[in-house]
Amino acid sequence: MCGIVGAVAQRDVAEILVEGLRRLEYRGYDSAGVAIVDGEQNLSRIRRLGKVQALSDAVHEAKVAGGTGIAHTRWATHGEPSEANAHPHMSGDIAVVHNGIIENHEELRETLRERGFSFSSQTDTEVIAHLVEWELRTSENLLEAVQKTAAQLTGAYGTVVMNKNDPARLIVARSGSPLVIGYGMGEHFIASDQLALLPVTRRFAFLEEGDVAEITRFEVNIFDAQGNAVKREVKETQVSHDSGDKGEYRHYMLKEIYEQPVAIQRTLEGRLANGQVVSSIFGDNAEELLSKVKHVQIIACGTSYHAGLVARYWLEEWAGVSCNVEIASEFRYRKSHVFENSLLVTISQSGETADTLAALRLAKEMGYMASLTICNVPGSSLVRESDLSYMMKAGAEIGVASTKAFTVQLAGLLMLAGAIGHFNDLEPAKEAQLVKALQSLPAKIEQTLSMAESIELLAEDFAEMNHSLFLGRGEQSAIAMEGALKLKEISYIHAEAYAAGELKHGPLALIDAEMPVIVVAPNNELLEKLKSNIEEVRARGGLMYVFADENTSFESDDTMKVLKVPFCDEFIAPIVYTLPLQLLSYYVALIKGTDVDQPRNLAKSVTVE
Ligand code: AGP
Ligand code: GLU
Repeated sequence: MCGIVGAVAQRDVAEILVEGLRRLEYRGYDSAGVAIVDGEQNLSRIRRLGKVQALSDAVHEAKVAGGTGIAHTRWATHGEPSEANAHPHMSGDIAVVHNGIIENHEELRETLRERGFSFSSQTDTEVIAHLVEWELRTSENLLEAVQKTAAQLTGAYGTVVMNKNDPARLIVARSGSPLVIGYGMGEHFIASDQLALLPVTRRFAFLEEGDVAEITRFEVNIFDAQGNAVKREVKETQVSHDSGDKGEYRHYMLKEIYEQPVAIQRTLEGRLANGQVVSSIFGDNAEELLSKVKHVQIIACGTSYHAGLVARYWLEEWAGVSCNVEIASEFRYRKSHVFENSLLVTISQSGETADTLAALRLAKEMGYMASLTICNVPGSSLVRESDLSYMMKAGAEIGVASTKAFTVQLAGLLMLAGAIGHFNDLEPAKEAQLVKALQSLPAKIEQTLSMAESIELLAEDFAEMNHSLFLGRGEQSAIAMEGALKLKEISYIHAEAYAAGELKHGPLALIDAEMPVIVVAPNNELLEKLKSNIEEVRARGGLMYVFADENTSFESDDTMKVLKVPFCDEFIAPIVYTLPLQLLSYYVALIKGTDVDQPRNLAKSVTVE
């Protein structure tokens, strides 16, 4: 979702704010804006539809000066993408930026209209500006006015408020949408993601739910939802914006596909020893908790959900526990039941996905034995609110379409299966084989990336197609789902995925010469069954693309292209077979000319419901 950057400093902050927005572009947005106040209390507001570069050009042209400012990249929820709906929104001398949704904005809009306020935008956000302006009339100061305003808002939001007449401070409120305070020397900052502020600080404190903070150049005063002064720990961040640029790659997505060997190497470091998974990698008291686990409930969204679907096979087979995998937005509204000794596992690259976070909070009230998050962002909400956490260490993932995060999640989940299995019936020899397979993974992924050239050629077959069907069996059915999602989200080609055995129960009706069928077919005990499914398709004139082991018996012919994937151990086959599908979606998107790193309508971190 969208981005927030704010600053209270002696120096001019325009460039800091715009650079911060640039670093948040990957999250997806449709417009951007800044509001800056100078020492003579002149306020400049500039907003632009489209890319941050357009805003940057306008800010430079206007030579905006001033040491206090707020900035925003918007991902529209209420009101079309337009300059008039772009943030900051104003009411008199008050300027506001906001992430999230104000669910009671309509009734507030009505009340404010009755008080004589008129609205210049269609956004829910504008009610915050008018409400603060109204409350300020009867408050001691801006902090009190914002506290009174926050008490009237329902929904998930993070907001920063500035008063033209009081440029010494910013007031910040967090309720459901993450906000982090950056600590500088004689200056302080605020952002929705620490990545935005790495050029100016590496010291951060995360606001908690309900917090309201007053930020000046020399002070940060934080108050909890009850108005009590609280302290939030200031930490040196571990996050490196190592994706500061694309280097020699044309897109972040391609860079992150090729970063996978290193990312996997990093996530395995120090976590495997003597043929075993080091169970303490999941947290201090993980060993005791994992030894008791009898059921695992996985909750996630999108690509992370697909990682959970793969993990179910591993947890059942190697960990010897039952496992259920749910989409977070569904889990939240079901009357589900908690099995005894049940571990709740959330999987999330960003650690801020609203549905997953809400599902965790709900689950924590339901009596799960413990919660574990598999996450890529230190200090994110899911990490801070889970009992245990597995830090993926994949490095910042900028491309909206998740690639290295997915394969690193799978490596972490396979380690989780091994760690739990160690306390159940996983034979030491099997555990050692699992560990060995993981240790071979970086090199195996490097080897598989050599398929890129053949896949780039293959992509030409898809460029004119409007539909596609991905098939797999066992854990590869989830890899088929991930392959379909990648193709959908960056090339905009409709793609569906099915467990191959399901084909004859309906989807077979879709098969004709216009429907390419992509099959994920590693050598395993289901391969013979899969061959039957392939024949079902070929008998109906379907075009087949089969990703199979390099020693496969499949032969290419005029209706079937066989892409040979380097041999790999069955433990890591789902991870290895992901690579060609990532490459396929990337090269098809290149041909289609879509915005590979920021596909239309999508955001990197979905922090609204
Ligand atoms: C995947 O390519 C998408 N970016 C999206 O499905 C993503 O996986 C989903 O929004 C979950 O995000 P998270 O892992 O940060 O929770
Ligand atoms: N709901 C607000 C709007 O539509 C903020 C959306 C966002 O998080 O960017 O402007």
